[in-house]
Amino acid sequence: MLNLSKQKISTLIAQIEHHDHLYYVLDQPEISDAAYDKLFRELQELENAHPDLKRTDSPTQRVGGAPLDQFGKLKHGTPMLSLANAFSEKEFLEFDERVHRFLDLPAEKALEYFVELKFDGLSLNLTYENGVLLSASTRGDGETGEDVTQNIKTIRSIPLRLKTNTPPRRIEIRGEILLCTKDFEKLNQEQAQKGLKIFANPRNAAAGSIRQLDPAIAASRPLTSFCYGLGKLEGIEFKTLMEFEKTLDTWGFKTSPYREVCEGTESVLKFYQKIETLREKLPFEIDGTVVKLNRIAEVDRAGFISRSPRGMLAFKYPPKQEITAIESIQVQVGRTGTLTPVAFVTPVRVGGVIVKRATLHNQDEIDRKDIRVGDRVYIQRAGDVIPEVVSVLKEARKGTEKKFRLPDHCPVCGSSVMRKEGESAVRCVSEDCMAQLKERIRHFVMKDALNIEGLGEKIVEQLVDEGLIKNQSDLFHLKQEDLLELEGFAEKSSENLILAIDQARKPELYRVIFGLGIRHVGERTAKILASHFGALEPLFTSSEEALQEIHEIGPEVAKSLREFFSKKENRKEIELLLKEIKIQSPKKASLLSGRISGKIFVLTGTFQTLSRSDATRLIEEQGGRVSSSVSKKTDFVVAGEEAGSKLDKARELGVKVIEERELLGMLGKS
Ligand code: IVH
Repeated sequence: MLNLSKQKISTLIAQIEHHDHLYYVLDQPEISDAAYDKLFRELQELENAHPDLKRTDSPTQRVGGAPLDQFGKLKHGTPMLSLANAFSEKEFLEFDERVHRFLDLPAEKALEYFVELKFDGLSLNLTYENGVLLSASTRGDGETGEDVTQNIKTIRSIPLRLKTNTPPRRIEIRGEILLCTKDFEKLNQEQAQKGLKIFANPRNAAAGSIRQLDPAIAASRPLTSFCYGLGKLEGIEFKTLMEFEKTLDTWGFKTSPYREVCEGTESVLKFYQKIETLREKLPFEIDGTVVKLNRIAEVDRAGFISRSPRGMLAFKYPPKQEITAIESIQVQVGRTGTLTPVAFVTPVRVGGVIVKRATLHNQDEIDRKDIRVGDRVYIQRAGDVIPEVVSVLKEARKGTEKKFRLPDHCPVCGSSVMRKEGESAVRCVSEDCMAQLKERIRHFVMKDALNIEGLGEKIVEQLVDEGLIKNQSDLFHLKQEDLLELEGFAEKSSENLILAIDQARKPELYRVIFGLGIRHVGERTAKILASHFGALEPLFTSSEEALQEIHEIGPEVAKSLREFFSKKENRKEIELLLKEIKIQSPKKASLLSGRISGKIFVLTGTFQTLSRSDATRLIEEQGGRVSSSVSKKTDFVVAGEEAGSKLDKARELGVKVIEERELLGMLGKS
């Protein structure tokens, strides 16, 4: 009996490890969440029934134990070194020359380099004994680090056991812990909502998460990892770094998504440039390319200088954070009237782009960071986000810096401003503010809205300043002659713009809803509203309560929609607009009297005929919505085989549960 349970536990662990690897390392899950939950619960139950059979490498250990008072210390088997940096092609070529010298090789002999991404996270030493994760520690002073094993175990891309039947006796593997940019932004939003600390960048957030004494906090952060390095080895040898990393892949680690073996400097430079162009699109932050001699024996032969191997180099990209000075602070008025303080800084190159302006967000942020005109500040750019001032170098103050306060009147129209309780934004109350109008028009024509090409910021300014447009619908009355009178317009350019405006006369509904620029209504919300209502007019009269009934529409959005559509001038403008454009109704059958129109489905378990994505598509095509979690708003839970916790939740909440067969019937497919 005990033997049987032991065997079952082993099988379950192997299955869960396999699915963790598919999900967290390869990003290719094969089973539903419910089926996974079921395996996990089965393992937990067996372990609870037989505590003596609980293994240290069981996935149930990933939830972490009780909070610690402090971290213990762990000595690394071999020191964790650092890398010398190069900031230019010249410095990289000097490195190559140096390596030639130390290897005693002629300059014309091309060296074999292994190149990969330089991850901008927190470095870590993982020790595996006979294939099982024994401990994990931070870099510390390079010799000794902090024991963060409990926290590291919560990161699913780090195997608790190597996927091999012939593990080495002992091996130290080094890698980096990261937070992807999206997860970082989400975390900061959540932190702000809870009134907790805002992290300056993903690296700080990752470091802060790993250095939490309570493993439950680390477990709640979606940390990921990439491994690239080796420390002390016993019972295994590698000849090249490529061979080592390929082994890491088979053992179940996540490794650099870009890596190559390059013969000579030219191909290294090509790789470096290729990654630089890709950098912005990567889902996580990197700060360079790492160049390493591929043959491990050569790395050893080249030797070490201070704490860095001579045969390795961090070939850095321009930093995304820079120091500059605030020359002035000006106030911009946005589309909904929000006054945003913007710092005009001494131009500086950040991450390859010249930055002249950086947002200061609002008065609260200025006060919190104590930002003054004349201050020297750190500014940063993350992805496509507008540059922002991160912090002030207070030690550089001369005493001449000036504090800043937002004006109590709109700097554009002079109307008074107000701040709603509980909000940090200050708004111009006027309906006729030119600044707001310009922003509204700019928003209306942007790519995700009506997508009118060629209507940039400058042209919108001119059109508004010249009194040619006073609202969105006026755009459609513009004539070529009007444009020709404006500075910078010629025959061809004016013709093109009129053509582009004409082509925008048949927009999809969501583009119009989004384009109206209603507060809190982004593209996704606009799509939800479009698919729910199928036309603009029902939005005029829909009550706040009715709006909140729609899945994913919360009270704030509902209130904002109500406020917008209850204003007579907004409705009048929409009526004028509808005379000019012909909205393409959503393809969805939400307008039809389909049985499932507006209904919310949750899918769980495995279906016999439909794949999950087909089921989702069919439901959405007929105006229904598919949600990932069961709540009181759910209309139907469709349960397939091995349905798990979602089915339990449905029963608990009294949500109707149907089978795949019944769903097919509703869809008219049976
Ligand atoms: S190899 C001798 N490869 O950069 C150290 N390091 O500045 C060998 N890093 O401490 C390190 N990505 O934390 C290596 N692909 C990569 C890396 C990488 C990030 C970090 C690592 C190291 C620091 C050196």
